[in-house]
Amino acid sequence: MKILVVGSGGREHALAWKLAQSERIQTIYVAPGNGGTALDGRLKNITLSDPLALAEFAKAEHISFTVVGPEVPLAAGIVNIFRDKGLKIFGPTKEAAQLESSKDFAKTFMQRHGIPTARSQTFAATAPAHAYIDTHGAPIVIKADGLAAGKGVVVAMDLQEAHDAVDMMLGDNKLGDAGARVVIEEFLAGEEASFIVMVDGKNILPLATSQDHKRLRDHDLGPNTGGMGAYSPAPIVTPELHARVMREIIQPTVQGMAKDGILFTGFLYAGLMIDEHGNAKTLEFNCRMGDPETQPIMARLKTDLVTVMEHAVNGHLDTIELKWDRRTALGVVMAAGGYPDAPVKGAQITGIPAETADTVTFHAGTALENGHLQVTGGRVLCVVGLGDSVKSAQKHAYDAVDAIHFDGAQVRRDIGWRALNRKH
Ligand code: AMP
Ligand code: GLY
Repeated sequence: MKILVVGSGGREHALAWKLAQSERIQTIYVAPGNGGTALDGRLKNITLSDPLALAEFAKAEHISFTVVGPEVPLAAGIVNIFRDKGLKIFGPTKEAAQLESSKDFAKTFMQRHGIPTARSQTFAATAPAHAYIDTHGAPIVIKADGLAAGKGVVVAMDLQEAHDAVDMMLGDNKLGDAGARVVIEEFLAGEEASFIVMVDGKNILPLATSQDHKRLRDHDLGPNTGGMGAYSPAPIVTPELHARVMREIIQPTVQGMAKDGILFTGFLYAGLMIDEHGNAKTLEFNCRMGDPETQPIMARLKTDLVTVMEHAVNGHLDTIELKWDRRTALGVVMAAGGYPDAPVKGAQITGIPAETADTVTFHAGTALENGHLQVTGGRVLCVVGLGDSVKSAQKHAYDAVDAIHFDGAQVRRDIGWRALNRKH
């Protein structure tokens, strides 16, 4: 069987790595892939990126199904294009992807269906936005409506920062169309968790829970990033909270989309804020898997992912159960110098250890050039350790990180701190 994975990050490497463990696989194509997928003999990189060209490739190569990693092709309608050609693909349509591609769509949707989220209002002009900020005070959160590659959210701790964010997005148009409207919302305090499920339009299959580390530096300091590390499971999501999130957030979302006439298919990721009383609110939806959450989640998945995906694209997610490695998986991101603002490219990467039963390194911003691995993007590697405790998973991950070298590497040394604190 041949499968196509669309994307080039650590998430896509992890998905392709897991799919490749299936005995039924002939070839897995990754478009465009990275240095890690280039090095794996079971995977084959292809340079196509245009959705139409990918659909033609999938048709010509008799690809059994396609899995899409990133949000940009989903928001551009890759699923619509594939389905129009009768091709199987796992992801949301362009219409359903609005849950991620428009914050205003997501907020209006949540309000309409009674899904817990921060109070908010959407603005297209600066004057009423400034007035709203003055009325509500700080801290307050300013979000660009559209996709802004992680740069669209400002958590303003004071009024000046909030007003500046409005001027940057709405006034100076710094984010282009993505910032043509802004959502201004109530600041929520608490601890974040990533809650990711697979949806086939009707049935919902939850994946293992996880937690990300968004800030660049230790102790959650420094600028926001795409994610500097993640682990699974997230102990904050107790079985009781899991059941509540399914009942109060995930099921109403899937049912609400169906009621609105937009069937949701694909990965659905609710970014949760959990307050001190254990109540969860939705910070955002993503209509894809998280990066780097996918890397530890895939490292723990024991069920054949090809079979899971077949159930997903055929609408049978109610007839499969997922089995997970009971160990903790903890992924540490090694980022390029200058990330997130201006990642420095071109450094040579050495020392990546071979995969073992308790460590695996997924590539993101890497390329294989004349047999050498080079840095090509912001997040370079995600090194995953597995262990019977958070501490041992952390040790396995950092032992491997310490063997790897590239100039300018930025690494957080405290991935997993919340889980460690909780267990003491
Ligand atoms: P988002 O892309 O909406 O998840 O926002 C990015 C990050 O900003 C989140 O992961 C949170 O850390 C933070 N954030 C977003 N919305 C809020 C909020 N209402 N209150 C506090 N922090 C928030
Ligand atoms: N790690 C957060 C995200 O994928 O959006």
